[in-house]
Order: sequence, then C-alpha cells, then structure tokens
Amino acid sequence: MIAAMSADRVIGREDGLPWDVPADYAHFLASVRGGAVVMGRRSYEIFGGDLEDVLAIVLTRREHAPAGTQRAGDVETALADAAASGRSVWVAGGASVYAQVLPYADALHLSIVPGHFEGDAWFPAWDERSWALAEESAREGYVFRRYVRTASDRS
Ligand SMILES: NC(=O)c1ccc[n+]([C@@H]2O[C@H](COP(=O)([O-])OP(=O)(O)OC[C@H]3O[C@@H](n4cnc5c(N)ncnc54)[C@H](OP(=O)(O)O)[C@@H]3O)[C@@H](O)[C@H]2O)c1
Repeated sequence: MIAAMSADRVIGREDGLPWDVPADYAHFLASVRGGAVVMGRRSYEIFGGDLEDVLAIVLTRREHAPAGTQRAGDVETALADAAASGRSVWVAGGASVYAQVLPYADALHLSIVPGHFEGDAWFPAWDERSWALAEESAREGYVFRRYVRTASDRS
C-alpha cells in the first residue's frame, strides 16, 4: 500500500489532499508507474488522470468502472486480478480501500507530512507488532517510511 498522511493519519479532505507537497506526489506517481494500481472509485476520480503506464483496477459496486480501467467488485478480486497481471501490485486508497486491504498488505510505503491538518479521511491504525520499519529517509516536504510485514493480522 502506498499513502501520504499526517502524523495523526489524516489522508484526505473532501476531493483531495489537505497539503501541497509536490515532491511527494511525484514520488507516488513514480512509484506506481508500470504497476497494477488498485483504487477505490472515488480516489480514481480524483487522482486517476495523473497515473501513467499503469493497469488501473477500480473498486466499484457500480456496473461500470471509469473508462480505461478494469472493474473489480470486491477486494479479493481486485488483488487477484492485480497479481495475475504480473505487474507490481500497489494499493493507492482511499480510506475505505486502505482499511479493507491492510490485512492483505505486505509492505506500507508511507509519506509522512509534518504538521496537523483538518481532514475527513484517515489511514487505518496498524498494529506496530506486525510491522518493521525497513527504511526511513527525510525528503523535500515529507519523511518517507517503508514498513514490511513481520506477522499476519489474519488468524
Ligand atoms: N493521502 C493519500 O495518499 C490518499 C490516497 C488516496 C486517496 N486519498 C483520499 O481519500 C479520500 C477518498 O477515500 P474514500 O474512502 O472516501 O473513497 P475511496 O476508498 O477512494 O472510494 C470509495 C469507493 O470505492 C468503492 N469501493 C470501496 N470498497 C469496495 C468494495 N469492497 N467493493 C466494491 N467497491 C468498493 C465504492 O465505489 P462506488 O461508490 O462506485 O460503488 C466506494 O464508494 C479522499 O479525500 C482522497 O483525497 C488520499
């Protein structure tokens, strides 16, 4: 999963991000480029137009997904289709999708934006005992942290 968040896990406000950190957005686009990107329908409508060279798999209960994307009607199908593509699999939000996919995730690529922001969407709390910090680097306007899973959340 890849996300940008504040220290208190805010990820969104209305139809966008609560901050403007261009280096992080560029990092996001570069990270997922070439991959299979699973997104909720709302997030795809916000960010999908910026994605380049991706297989976009959009979760929706509607009959049709946005043009140029592959529809998935549930999380398991989305992840299976992404894996079957042979591309790197990325899950890029939003809040509802992060919460559903967290138990399946094996890595978290998190950009931490300093400061407090008003928001209406949050990244789910994760159990620190199941994850190890594999990488941390200060970048322009954010701190990048990569966590890898060390224990299953699923019984
Ligand atoms: N900071 C970041 O890194 C980041 C990244 C992405 C998004 N965001 C933010 O997150 C917010 C959007 O999050 P959100 O939770 O409101 O929306 P979302 O997760 O992007 O999309 C929600 C929609 O996805 C579909 N969906 C979700 N789970 C599904 C399932 N199990 N089966 C079928 N369809 C499913 C439904 O679409 P239908 O209504 O079409 O059925 C649902 O309405 C925005 O503020 C955005 O800016 C932040």
